[in-house]
Amino acid sequence: MTAKLIKGTEIREDILEEVKAEVAQIKEKHGVVPGLVTILVGENPASISYVTLKIKTANRLGFKEIQDTQSEDISEADLLALVDKYNKDEAINGILVQLPLPKHIDEKKVLNAIDPDKDVDGFHPVNVGRLMIGGKEVKFPPCTPAGIQEMIVRTGVETSGAECVVVGRSNIVGKPIANMMLQKGDGANATVTVVHTRTKDLEAHCKRADILVVAAGVPGLVKPQWIKPGACVIDVGVNRVGEKISEKTGKKIAILKGDVDFDEAKEIAGSITPVPGGVGPMTVTMLMVNTLKSLKFKLGLM
Ligand code: GUN
Repeated sequence: MTAKLIKGTEIREDILEEVKAEVAQIKEKHGVVPGLVTILVGENPASISYVTLKIKTANRLGFKEIQDTQSEDISEADLLALVDKYNKDEAINGILVQLPLPKHIDEKKVLNAIDPDKDVDGFHPVNVGRLMIGGKEVKFPPCTPAGIQEMIVRTGVETSGAECVVVGRSNIVGKPIANMMLQKGDGANATVTVVHTRTKDLEAHCKRADILVVAAGVPGLVKPQWIKPGACVIDVGVNRVGEKISEKTGKKIAILKGDVDFDEAKEIAGSITPVPGGVGPMTVTMLMVNTLKSLKFKLGLM
């Protein structure tokens, strides 16, 4: 059997078209568009490329978008003052401080300074709490887990009563996706197990999974024979395992490998995300969804 490919690149296009149409409608009716500011400190090449993609996507959707680039040596106090400025800016609905920040700045302090009602990353403790409570309390689910849930739902995978096993317990992916899948509601209601580096029998847990979410950051950690035939496999791993010359551009690019051995796993799974082109494209997409949601909350449309 060959699994159905869950293509993040295609699901992204569907969602972005939906967001774009809604932005146009709101603009016509209410005369406003979602406003997103991305604060970038320093010149980390990976951060620059993430931020560039965020800006490009926001522009395509008709958002008001501000890229605020600050030098590597900005003081913590000045960065906090900058966050506060955007907290007070009526035209801004979403504030994103690109991580990592330079070592002299306390990342937690900065993230906690963002107005929880503009925290479209969903990293503020208030939003982590809202996610834990679930239901109508939830404002901004963090973008990667939100993208994972959206992929599962749009692939038509039954989640209610399903055995969902999450490999990894990070604050950004493992913990929130586990929490989201066990909530009451559509696209959830699963029986969730979280496994991690100290788990005794990883294989036995994975073999039970109807939905297997792997976010460990270890290339090829999950062996194909650990996959239950027909399972939905979401591979969040993006591991650089080498370099190659791009056929398109002739430039050096990274060879990326997921946490699951894709070629063999696809012969066993019912549906599976590729790496790259699976979960990756969903993160920026859900950031746009959260920014639109923020404006809708403000306008009383949600
Ligand atoms: N750095 C890498 N990924 C992310 C993300 O999703 N949000 C923020 N703020 N920084 C990041």
